[in-house]
Amino acid sequence: MNQKLAHPMTESTDTLGDRRLTRLVHEFRRRYGRSPAFYVRAPGRVNLLGEHTDYNGLPVLPMAIDRNIVIAGVSRPDGVVMLQNIEPQFGARQYQLSQDIPPYAAGDWGNYSKAAAQGLMRYCGGQLRCGAQLLVDGNLPSGAGLSSSSALVVGNALALLAANEVDVPFVTLAELLPVAERYVGTLSGGMDQATSLLAQQGHALRIDFFPLRLRTVPLPQGYSIVVCHSLVQAEKSGPAKRGYNLRVIECRLACRIVERALGSDLPRPLQTLGDLVTLFPGRSLVDFVSLIGTQVPDRPLSLGQIAAIIGTAPERLRSECHLTADLGDRFAVLRRLRHVLREAERVDQAEDALRAGDAPGFGRLMDASHQSCRDDYEISCAELEELVRVAKEAGAAGARLTGAGFGGCTVNLVADADMQTFLRRVDRSFYHSRFASGRDAHERRFTFKPQSGAEVRRV
Ligand code: GLA
Repeated sequence: MNQKLAHPMTESTDTLGDRRLTRLVHEFRRRYGRSPAFYVRAPGRVNLLGEHTDYNGLPVLPMAIDRNIVIAGVSRPDGVVMLQNIEPQFGARQYQLSQDIPPYAAGDWGNYSKAAAQGLMRYCGGQLRCGAQLLVDGNLPSGAGLSSSSALVVGNALALLAANEVDVPFVTLAELLPVAERYVGTLSGGMDQATSLLAQQGHALRIDFFPLRLRTVPLPQGYSIVVCHSLVQAEKSGPAKRGYNLRVIECRLACRIVERALGSDLPRPLQTLGDLVTLFPGRSLVDFVSLIGTQVPDRPLSLGQIAAIIGTAPERLRSECHLTADLGDRFAVLRRLRHVLREAERVDQAEDALRAGDAPGFGRLMDASHQSCRDDYEISCAELEELVRVAKEAGAAGARLTGAGFGGCTVNLVADADMQTFLRRVDRSFYHSRFASGRDAHERRFTFKPQSGAEVRRV
C-alpha cells in the first residue's frame, strides 16, 4: 500500500506542465503580492469498470488522467483561507478555519475547499493553526464524470496540510476525504479521492473498500483508453445530485432486504452489500440476486412495501437508511441490486482479463457494464447512448458511460491500430453536427497515459 505523505514534499517529474506553472506563479504574484511557497496537483480520474459499486463496499477499476487541479499556495498565520481561481467565473472566497465551517450556498465552488478544511479540522484540527492564500488552476471539465470535485477537495486538503507543515499519509486522506466531501450534500463513495491520491503511473487500480485496499492492474498492450464527452453536464452538486443520492438509498434498502432474506444464515448484520463477499467467501454474488428475485417484484416499490417485505415500520426504515423526503417514494431495489452485484463480479472478471492481456474480453465486460448502467441502474441518457453506439460502430473494443452517469463522459477501449479511424468516425458522427469548428471537438475527446496520484511540492 502506498505510504506517500502530504509533507515533506516529493521531488517529482514535472507533471504540472511548465507553461501552466509559469502562468500560475505570475497570477499568484499579481493577486496576492507575494510568491507561492508550495504547489499541489490532484488528478481527475476515469473509471474503467465498477460503477456505483464503491459506496456498496464493492470494487472499482479506475485510473488517474492527465487533467487535474493545481493549487499554488502560501501559509498565513491567522487561520484565514483565501481562495481564488484562475478562471474569473469562480469568484474569490474567504473563510476562517474552525470545527464547524458554515457552507456557502449549495453548488458554490468554495464549498469543496470548506469540505476539505472541515474534514481536516475534525481529524487533526489542533495541528492546523495556519490558513492559506490559494490560487486554483483546473483543466478538468466540471460535470463530466471525471471527478473534478474530488480533485478540488483533495487539492485543498493537501494545500492546507502543506500550509501547516502537517503530515497525513495519503492512505488516511483517501479514507477521510470521501466522508469530508459529504459536506457538499452528495453521498459519494471513496473511488475518486483514492484514485486522485494513490494512482500509479501507467496502470489502472483495483480498489476495494472498508478497509481501503489497492493494487495496480496492467492495461492491455496495443490499446488505448479514449474519453469522450457527451456534452451533457451532470454536476454532482447540482441536478444529478438527487439521482445519485437516490441510488445510494436504494442500495441501502436493497441491503436491508438481503439481510432479511438471509435471516439466520447471516452471522452479523450487513453494513454494506460488500459484506456478502467476506461473509460468504466462494459464493457467487449473482446467487443473492436470484434469491431476492424470488421475493421482490422487479418494479419500483414504495417505502411502505419495502418495509412490509423486511418486517419493519416505514418510518423506522426511513430513519435507519437516512432517507430524505426529496428522494420521493419509489425505489427500484431489485434492479439496483442486480446491477451492483453483477458489476462487482465484472470487476473481478475484468481484472483477470487485464492480467491475461485479454483486451477483447475486457471490452465485452465494458459493454455489459454499460447495458447494466442503462437498464438496471438507469443512469444513462440519450446523448450517452448515442455516443456509445457511435463508438462501437467506430470500432471500439468496449464503450461505456463512466462516473456517476446522467451525462458526462464515456470511456472507450480502442486498438492503437484503429485509433485514427475511430476518432475520425466519432468526430463525424457525434461531434461535427454539434460544433462549428473541428478544434472544439478535439478538446471533448482525448486519450492519455495513466498518471500518478497527487503530489505536493515546495519551492
Ligand atoms: C461518483 C462518486 C463515486 C462513485 C461514482 C460512480 O463519481 O463520487 O464515489 O460512486 O460516482 O461509480
